Amino acid sequence: MAWIDDWVAARPGHFSFDLNVRRRLGGPEAWRTTVAGALRKASLVFASRHELATLWGTDDTKDLISRGILTPDHTVVVTDGANGAWVERDGSKLASSPAWPVTRVVDAVGAGDGLAAGVLAARLRDWPWEEALRLGSLVGALAVSHPGDWEGYPLWDEAQAALGDSWVDR
Ligand SMILES: Nc1ncnc2c1ncn2[C@@H]1O[C@H](COP(=O)(O)OP(=O)(O)OP(=O)(O)O)[C@@H](O)[C@H]1O
Ligand SMILES: [Mg+2]
Repeated sequence: MAWIDDWVAARPGHFSFDLNVRRRLGGPEAWRTTVAGALRKASLVFASRHELATLWGTDDTKDLISRGILTPDHTVVVTDGANGAWVERDGSKLASSPAWPVTRVVDAVGAGDGLAAGVLAARLRDWPWEEALRLGSLVGALAVSHPGDWEGYPLWDEAQAALGDSWVDR
C-alpha cells in the first residue's frame, strides 16, 4: 500500500486495479480487507462478475456504491468470461462488448489479464470505451485460444488486422 500511495500521489487518476481473486491465497474476508485500500486509490477497477459475487455477494455496482465498497467516481470494467464484458460508472453502463468468438478454449488462464491489457492499451490511446472493450475482448479470446497465460496475446499489427473496421486510427 505504501508503494501504491507513492505511485498514485505522483500520477493522480492513473491507477487501475484488477481484483484477480485467488482463493488459494485467502478467504473472502482476507481478500475484502486486502483490496479495500487499493480500491480507495484506484480510478479504474477490473473485476469479474464471479469475483464481485464471491467478495460482496452481488455484481450490482449500484449496490456496491451504496455500501461504500465502490464510489461513483470508480470506472468499473466487469468481465463475464464467454458472456463478454462491460464498463460502468456511477451504476450506469457506459459500453459493453460481446466475447470474441473462439473455436476452442485451450487454456482459460490469462483471459482477465488479456482483457485488461487490451483495454488499457486502447484507453492510453484515447480510444472510446466501446472500442477499448472490443480490443480487450480480442486479447482475452486469444489468451484462451492458446496454451499459457500471455502467449496468445496479439502483436499490435495482428490486433489491427483482426479488428478491421473497429480499429481506431489515432
Ligand atoms: N471462453 C471464452 N471465449 C471468448 N472470450 C473469453 C472466454 N473466456 C474469457 N474471455 C474473454 O476474456 C475476458 C475475461 O475473462 P474472465 O471474465 O474469465 O476473467 P477473469 O475471471 O478475470 O480471468 P482470469 O482468471 O484470467 O483472471 C472476458 O470478458 C472475455 O472477453
Ligand atoms: Mg482476473
